[in-house]
Amino acid sequence: MAEVHYIRQKEALGLGHAVSMAQAHVGDEPFAVMLGDDLIHPSEPLLGQMLRAHDTFGRSVIAAMEVSRQDISMYGSIQAEPFEEHLVRILSIIEKPSREEAPSNLAVIGRYVFTPEIFDALRRTVPGSGGEIQVTDAINLLAQEQAVYAYRFEGRRFDVGNPLDYLKATVELGAERDDLGPEFRTWLAEYVQRAKLV
Ligand code: G1P
Repeated sequence: MAEVHYIRQKEALGLGHAVSMAQAHVGDEPFAVMLGDDLIHPSEPLLGQMLRAHDTFGRSVIAAMEVSRQDISMYGSIQAEPFEEHLVRILSIIEKPSREEAPSNLAVIGRYVFTPEIFDALRRTVPGSGGEIQVTDAINLLAQEQAVYAYRFEGRRFDVGNPLDYLKATVELGAERDDLGPEFRTWLAEYVQRAKLV
């Protein structure tokens, strides 16, 4: 079905640097980046919808989600103008801003569909937040040169790099499984009673 290649980023120089490592495999084609610690509920066709938007408009499409004002400094924050039902056009984007600096509470989440021009933008990107080469900064450069869209996602997402979200994902997705779900739900209900959680 597919040929799988993998490449190690030998130094932790940032997400933008990690993406640039893949250029030899991607070549001059559009491609998707999926961050493993951003878990999108399997029933949500997020990446498929982003690919469709890319096919229609021929431009990069980044996944985004509203988060609380308090959480925005953990994400890329997007300033945008309306475009289509689920799409906005990115005017600027800033990585992990302070609450005061953040242009909005529309946060980048870990799915990206890029045109190959992102590699050129990455080459021009200097270290930013945390001293790392940030893909967000390259997106900001690209957005000044060609349209870049953000797809507003409203479904279920877990940040499994965060221990609490990791636990929530394990319980919710476990309880929904066809094989383990029925027994797990029975056990969970008993546990909630036994531990007097409600
Ligand atoms: C990365 C990106 C950030 C994005 C986030 C989504 O940050 O740099 O722009 O909002 O993923 O999860 P990280 O979570 O790796 O610090």
